[in-house]
Amino acid sequence: MRAGETQIALFRLSSGTIRAIDNRCPHKQGPLAEGIVSNDIIICPLHARKIDLQSGKVLEPDTGCVTTYLTRIENGQVFIQL
Ligand code: FES
Repeated sequence: MRAGETQIALFRLSSGTIRAIDNRCPHKQGPLAEGIVSNDIIICPLHARKIDLQSGKVLEPDTGCVTTYLTRIENGQVFIQL
């Protein structure tokens, strides 16, 4: 989804938790919304860096970080705090 110029990737985990992060991988801007989710980790579709969906941190041995956004669900609608 877009919020102005910002592209945000939304994920609903098997627990029902919603995570929202910047859609661009800090490595080479891979589209994280097209990655594979495993537990609370997104695996970038381009070069397989692993990013924690809660903190936005790229997992070792790689480095980097993406912006994360707080979310809440009200009456079946997802709200993202920008
Ligand atoms: S662009 Fe995501 S790992 Fe390279």
